[in-house]
Parts: sequence; structure tokens; C-alpha cells
Amino acid sequence: MQWQGRCPGCSAWHTLEEQGDAPDATAARARAAKVVPLGEAAAEPPERAPTGSREIDRVLGGGVVPGGVVLLGGDPGIGKSTLLLQVAARWIATGRTALYVAGEESPEQIALRAARLGRDVQSLPVCTDPDVDAVAAAMEADPPDLVIVDSIQTLRSSRSTSAAGSVPQLRDVTTRLTDVARARGIATILVGHVTRSGAIAGPRVVEHLVDTVLYLEGEPGTPLRTIRPVKNRFGSTLEVALLAMGERGLRDAASDIVAAITTGAPHGRRAVGVAIGALLEGTRSFPVEVQALAADAAYGPARLTTNGVDSGRVQMLAAILERYAGDTVAGQDLYLNIVGGLRLTDPTCDLAVLASIASSLRRSPLSADVFVAGEVGLTGELRPVAGLQARLLGGSRAGFRHAVVPESGHVDPVEGLTLHRCRRLEEALEQLFDIEPRR
Ligand code: TYD
Ligand code: MG
Repeated sequence: MQWQGRCPGCSAWHTLEEQGDAPDATAARARAAKVVPLGEAAAEPPERAPTGSREIDRVLGGGVVPGGVVLLGGDPGIGKSTLLLQVAARWIATGRTALYVAGEESPEQIALRAARLGRDVQSLPVCTDPDVDAVAAAMEADPPDLVIVDSIQTLRSSRSTSAAGSVPQLRDVTTRLTDVARARGIATILVGHVTRSGAIAGPRVVEHLVDTVLYLEGEPGTPLRTIRPVKNRFGSTLEVALLAMGERGLRDAASDIVAAITTGAPHGRRAVGVAIGALLEGTRSFPVEVQALAADAAYGPARLTTNGVDSGRVQMLAAILERYAGDTVAGQDLYLNIVGGLRLTDPTCDLAVLASIASSLRRSPLSADVFVAGEVGLTGELRPVAGLQARLLGGSRAGFRHAVVPESGHVDPVEGLTLHRCRRLEEALEQLFDIEPRR
């Protein structure tokens, strides 16, 4: 063995730990492992306990599982503690038992937050002991139905000599809690802060120890939050929860997003520069509002400013628009905004971005009845859309009457929705601006 003071991976000093030697191989050979036919393993779906939030239950696959361990990761300040206090409050309100292990905040701070949330958590048992063995003993002595640990980085294990929050500490703490949770059938949610670097380890290093890994994400300064499962032993990783942070905590946001768009167009036409796309989140689709403003670049070279959409993509789309649809983008400052703090990462919203820019350039508003979906290629062709059927259904449910979409790909007709299937961008814009609003 060679002495190393510096990690060859990340170049940090004094972060290496010596690991013990592997157990003697001959001892392991003494006893043969038990082998069973696969058919004997019961394939019953796990029993689930709803948390009371439709969105969270959706990503969990129906609720938490007794003995199942969920890791909730996310940036500091994104709303993890808020979310879990709401879960705890709803949980005890239905007569089930819970234990809230708080290392980040004092019970007074938690009580203050509960008051802000308008929740009664007077009877919620809170524990602030930083020793994971003491926490585990409390769980064993009187097993509650649900344990919330906020956060694993604030607990310490005496089994590891390294500093609190280090990788070995985090692994020990998580293993200890997971063992008790499984042995006693306690549904457990662990918070892990995402850390940028340094001595405190992030949730990634314990993802393999738990059953379900969720990340709470959002753009700072905007209300929208998503919960994405990156691992789910008891369900799918396709669903995404949509939540909105407000004055009284997080609430389900799916219907808010639709409402904001469908109530925004009172006179049968959208404002100039507005187009509606169809976002696919998990298996659900929502309308998304894209706003564009094109203005003469009077002061020096033209600028492009985007919010919620990649500026490189917009630049490319603007070039396609100029070449194939004949709109003059050169010499225009372009501002793009995606309403509600949503982020477009899906090229299927290309057509919505282009329609909003064309609407602003032409000073011509679109009918409030139409939404669009389609990726646009460099030659101006409309490319097929993933999940087109779900997007059409989502649009129809939100009250739209027309959809402009690519020609390729089979979809079943959706009642009340007229499909305008187009091969190219020019054709799509022509049809789009021709759709008359309802009278
Ligand atoms: P918090 O749950 O403490 O984040 P985390 O545990 O992930 O670090 O959330 C902190 C932010 O949320 C803080 O900026 C205040 C804001 N907030 C609201 O906007 N509304 C609320 O009702 C609450 C409780 C917090
Ligand atoms: Mg917190």
C-alpha cells in the first residue's frame, strides 16, 4: 500500500480514508448460500400509504411504502423542509404516527414554519439528537408509521471516525437508518442537501443505499418546483410532480399552470408575440406559454435575451425562420420568456418558440384556440414529436380546439380537436395564422 495525502481524483488534501482489508476468502467459502426458485418469491405489489399530496404520491407510485426509504435531495433553500413539514402535518392529521428528526433547525423554528403554513403540528414528536444510534434506538423503542430525517448531513455515527457530513459518515448514517426502517417496517424519508463541493458530501453518495431517490428542483426566484424520481424500487421514474411555492408552502401546481394560460386570452386572440406549446412532464402534458418580443436594435448590435429557453437554440431557430419563412430577424433585438418559471428543454417546443417570434415580428396575434408542437430541423422540416397523443389529449383537456403538429407519426383523433398536420415550418405558420378565433 502506498501513502497518499492527496486524492488523485479531485486533488483535495486529507480527504482519503483507509478502508479495512477484505474478509478472509476461505472463511466465506465455509457455508453455502441458500438458493430458491424464482417462482417462490412473492410478487405482491407493496402496500402504500398516501402522503396526502396528490403530486408527491404520483411520483412515489401511490404513496410511501412501509419499510421503504426515500431520499429527497435538492439545493439548499429549494423547499425540502417546507415540503416535509407539510407531509408530516397531513400524516398526523389522519391519525397516523410520525417522528420528525431535525438537525437543521430548532423545534422553535419548526413551530414557526408550521404556523406560517397554517398547520397544526402541536402533537408532532420532534427529535434533535445528532447521534444516529440514539435516533435508531428511538425508532426501535416505539416504531412510528413515518420517520422524517432533515437532514442526513446533520447526523453523526460513532462507528466512523471521520468528520460529520463526510462520505463515510453519510454512508454509515444512511445504512443505520435504512436497516431500522426495513426491520421495523417504518416508512422513512431522508433529506440530503445537494452540495457544490468541499467537506460535506451530497445525496449522490447514498443513492444506492435507499429504495427511492427524488430530487426537488426549481429556478431560484420562481415559484415552480418539480420532483423528479431518479430511482424508484417501488414504481416508475417517469412521473414528475409539479408544485408551486407560495406564501403558505407548496401546493399542487398542475392545474394552476393550465388555468394561467386558459384564462389569459379573453378576446379570442392571444397577445401579439404569444404562442402556446405542449410540454410533456412524465406521462402528462401541459400547455406552456411562450412570449417573444422583437424590437428594432436601435443601439448597436442586435441582442438576444432568453428566460427559460436555451439562447443557442433560439438563435438557431431564428436563423431557420429568416431563411424559410421569410421573416426578417436580422437587426432585431429578441426577448424570449417562458411563463411561470418553466424551462423548455424539449425540442418539441421549437414550433411554439418560432410561432411566438413570428407573431411579434408580424405584429399579428394568434387565435387563443390553438396550440402547437413540433421540433424544427435545420432545413425547416417539422420533425416527429415524442408523446404526441398525450400532448393532444392535454391540449384538448385544457380547452384548445386546434393543434398544429408535424405530419409524421400516427395519432388517434381527439374529439373536439382539429389537427393541422404540416410537413414544413412555412406551412405550419401559414395554417397557424389562418386559424380564426371562436366567436
Ligand atoms: P426550505 O423548506 O427551508 O428549504 P430547504 O429545506 O430545501 O433548504 O425553504 C426555504 C425557502 O422557501 C425560503 O426561501 C422561504 C420559502 N418559503 C416560502 O416561500 N413559503 C413558505 O410558506 C415557506 C415555509 C417557505
Ligand atoms: Mg431545510
